[in-house]
Amino acid sequence: MKSEFKEVTLCVFDAYGTLFDVHSAVEQHAHSLGSQAQSISMLWRQKQLEYTWLRSLMGRYVDFAQVTAEALHYALQAHSMTDATLEQRLLLAYNQLSSYAEVIATLKQLRGAGIATAILSNGSPDMLWGAVEHAGLTDLIDQVISVDDLAIYKPDPRVYQLVLDGFGVTKDQVLFHSSNAWDVAGAVNFGFHVAWINRFSQPPEPLSKSPSLELKNLQQVIAALGI
Ligand code: LAC
Repeated sequence: MKSEFKEVTLCVFDAYGTLFDVHSAVEQHAHSLGSQAQSISMLWRQKQLEYTWLRSLMGRYVDFAQVTAEALHYALQAHSMTDATLEQRLLLAYNQLSSYAEVIATLKQLRGAGIATAILSNGSPDMLWGAVEHAGLTDLIDQVISVDDLAIYKPDPRVYQLVLDGFGVTKDQVLFHSSNAWDVAGAVNFGFHVAWINRFSQPPEPLSKSPSLELKNLQQVIAALGI
């Protein structure tokens, strides 16, 4: 175990974009969406996140399932798509997202090294368990922690506190992983060790000091931890 992470006993993962490919829902129906598929998927994700931040600021929380449905409806309307059946199929596909190729092997290696694993996500409990089960991760995740009980979204510090409350650990024992740079900033500001899984070579956000690690995929965390 590398000295910086010698206290780490728990690896925590953001779900959407980190473990699961949010664009795999549209990919399942790309034939029906045609040339607008990528644009619809990008706007869907953008609006989903915007609505979480705006609802938190306004004190108007609804769960991530409703936020995701409302964001999809907006994205389809913005592209003049009004097929209600296709809209429902896309929402169902969001509960069956693909996990990234390296996820299962990485979780197995972490658990083989005696490290506990958890998800900390904006996702509602049913959405998260559906995604975990569909991706075959049920036996590889010790806890699934949703913001839903708090009724406020990331990057509110109270969300990251759920990890300490749920596991009875200190901040120094946690390595948090996210592909979302704004989520990375929230976790860094909260005080976790943080690995930014910068899958798409994006620039950093000016919202916190740098994360402990910047990696291209989750597999690289194994070497970073010296496992
Ligand atoms: C999550 C979103 C923010 O899983 O990716 O919390």
